[in-house]
Amino acid sequence: MNIFVTRALPDRFRRALTEAGHTVSEWTEKRDLSAQELMAACLVADALFSVGKNAIDCAFLDACSHLRVIALCSVGYDNVDIGEATRRGIPIGNTPGVLSKATADTAFLLMQSVARKAFHKHKEILRGHWGFFDPMSDLGIELRGKTLGIFGLGRIGMELARSCRSAFDMPVIYHNRGHNEEAEKELGAQRVTFDELLRQSDVLSVHANLSKETTGIFNRDAFSRMKTSSIFINTARGAIHHESDLYRALEEGLIWGAGLDVTHPEPMDPSHPLLQMPNVAVLPHIGSATLETRTAMMELTVENILAGLDGRRLPYCVNPQVYDQRDPLG
Ligand code: 8YV
Repeated sequence: MNIFVTRALPDRFRRALTEAGHTVSEWTEKRDLSAQELMAACLVADALFSVGKNAIDCAFLDACSHLRVIALCSVGYDNVDIGEATRRGIPIGNTPGVLSKATADTAFLLMQSVARKAFHKHKEILRGHWGFFDPMSDLGIELRGKTLGIFGLGRIGMELARSCRSAFDMPVIYHNRGHNEEAEKELGAQRVTFDELLRQSDVLSVHANLSKETTGIFNRDAFSRMKTSSIFINTARGAIHHESDLYRALEEGLIWGAGLDVTHPEPMDPSHPLLQMPNVAVLPHIGSATLETRTAMMELTVENILAGLDGRRLPYCVNPQVYDQRDPLG
């Protein structure tokens, strides 16, 4: 069967697919495919191995409803219309778990970088401003004992909470729809309302999925309810915060600093004023970008593709309902 991959694959993963008897076509250009190019490539494919943020929307699914599996090389699936894929019986795979630690480490890195103004200080050296020592100017803040607030405490938030507890003895509060019993038991984490999360967090880190409910939830109103000494971190999806509201909140001192691994849009415009602010650290969406983690993500994606083409249940499936709705005699 034919597998279309939206990037060039490392040899060992291409081999894993071809040795199972499949034909692999790869998009090798160093640019994202257009919607038309993706559709054209998938019209002759049985499986899509999707790396990056290709829109798997209703128009695509209409044209490519024959696909036996769409395997995303990411944990996030906000680029996919899951309801429409499920309606067409297409299983969607993702890569949960394997990137939790690396992504939490990126949030931790941003938290420390903002607290100590590390990116700003580095830029100052490049500008030739490592000069006269003034002991009380342009100082950072300590994290020890400060309250970590997590918006969307799942696997990634849990890893961050563990790191913050063991490194800086930070008490943990979180806002979720339900209780996270593991976090409450292991870390004494306390579930709070969204308003309490905003008002009590010294560091507020976002680990929620992008959805209708979370889009733009960190807006001017939210920032105005946060502590003026607080740090906002987002390693989830850029559209969860409102970027110009965040800029204004920092300008006006509503919050103290921000660390972003995700922006909206991506890539961020290099002339964006957030990049010039001393208490801001921005990274180009590298949450999962370690050799170990990206390798593990590819492995899971290959497993999902092979299972889908074999007619087996995907081991890592976003919409397992596709299996319940299949005609048992079909
Ligand atoms: C990916 C991510 O690097 O897994 C996710 O949801 O955001 C990142 O790990 C990105 O989606 C590219 O596929």
